[in-house]
Amino acid sequence: MNRTVIRGGLVVTAAEEVHADVLVEGEKVVALASYGSGVAEGWTADRVLDARGLYVIPGGVDAHTHMELPFGGTSASDTFETGTRAAAWGGTTTIVDFAVQSVGSSLREGLDTWHAKAQGACAIDYGFHMILADVTEHSLKEMDLLVAEGVTSFKLFMAYPGVFYSDDGKILRAMQRGAENGGLIMMHAENGIAIDVLVEQALAAGKTDPRYHGEVRRELLEAEATHRAIKLAQVAGSPLYVVHVSAASAVAELAAARRQGLSVFGETCPQYLFLSTDNLAEPGFEGAKYVCSTPLRPREHQAELWKGLRTGDLQVVSTDHCPFCFSGQKELGRGDFSKIPNGLPGVENRMDLLHQAVVEGRISRRRWIEIACAAPARMFGLYPRKGTIAPGADADIVLYDPAARQTLSAATHHMNVDYSAYEGKEVTGKVRTVLSRGAVVIDDGAYLGRAGHGRYQPRATCQYLD
Ligand code: URP
Ligand code: ZN
Ligand code: ZN
Repeated sequence: MNRTVIRGGLVVTAAEEVHADVLVEGEKVVALASYGSGVAEGWTADRVLDARGLYVIPGGVDAHTHMELPFGGTSASDTFETGTRAAAWGGTTTIVDFAVQSVGSSLREGLDTWHAKAQGACAIDYGFHMILADVTEHSLKEMDLLVAEGVTSFKLFMAYPGVFYSDDGKILRAMQRGAENGGLIMMHAENGIAIDVLVEQALAAGKTDPRYHGEVRRELLEAEATHRAIKLAQVAGSPLYVVHVSAASAVAELAAARRQGLSVFGETCPQYLFLSTDNLAEPGFEGAKYVCSTPLRPREHQAELWKGLRTGDLQVVSTDHCPFCFSGQKELGRGDFSKIPNGLPGVENRMDLLHQAVVEGRISRRRWIEIACAAPARMFGLYPRKGTIAPGADADIVLYDPAARQTLSAATHHMNVDYSAYEGKEVTGKVRTVLSRGAVVIDDGAYLGRAGHGRYQPRATCQYLD
């Protein structure tokens, strides 16, 4: 079996930081040997990777992506092939994408469709959540089958009436089913019915620019929906994971629920930590680049999101990667912000942006790895196969240069989208080498991977509930 030794780096996991060599055999980590122990001296290897001066970290786990998602009258511009390749460039080695149930169809049909899109296309490993768009007796029964085959989380929407929206009764039924079968309910928490009224009123008043997307999707309507989702989960006796939290008052709802001892979890995304309504208000139609839901919030919210990540009231940072090109896609909403396809690119940028937060002293190195690797793996039943470096884990490993400087830009990124949400942003830290199940897929500025290397990952149920 092929043996690789990673020598001389600082191994950083969510649990510890240790100067150690790492031995990889085939697809797995088999041993770590701390400096001075002498253990590594006896190791033979086919390949030695020099990690002196570098961090050796687990590959990132991005638990919220939408490759090829048909949405807003168009489709997300990254395919599973281009999107997972870009993820690898950015040090992410596992994604959990969302398979979609169409209204009137079964979960099975939706899942099969997403398997067909991803099969043979991915550069890195992938799993699926299921979007429940049509809660019926049949789809509730299907949830049990999906959990049994490793699709253990289900996203419901309190937003997007007429598309993905479920009313409170449907949400309650799905939560009750999840409480029985172990499926984790993921919630898009915004009051979409009220938002649609405000959209209509804004457009009637001639408020058509992208910045009004942020104004009508009021913070109060995220907080209200988050509160309601928590109460519905409490009634159902089910855990709850709230996706893409952007408002300080929504974080407060999660914190209050957790103080009560409820199994309520929260995710935020780099765009809410680094961007704001100032971007939505950029001149001309530029603000369309930043249209996503939940929307970007005024800058003051960022401090509360960082605080939530430090205190543990927010556990995960995912990207909600859902890219649409400015040209031809975001432009669908010129003259009507409600027609701008919702979503931002970011799968390639997450590890670097969160490392920048380490550089700036917002989070520790270990917390960086926890929120980007270990916690998403645990939350979605992939740990310790993914999210850590330990004997028995998949050899998904990143050699990360903490001192390299780079400027984020569409000119240099690998995502299939014609703009960067972080254009011109300078960050310290950069991926040097990426291993996916023992195979080097990125090395020193070269892509060595291939479509089809990535393997489907059936998942266990949420490991924070064990
Ligand atoms: O704007 C977003 N977030 N687009 C993707 C779909 C969703 O709600 O996650
Ligand atoms: Zn959503
Ligand atoms: Zn999403």
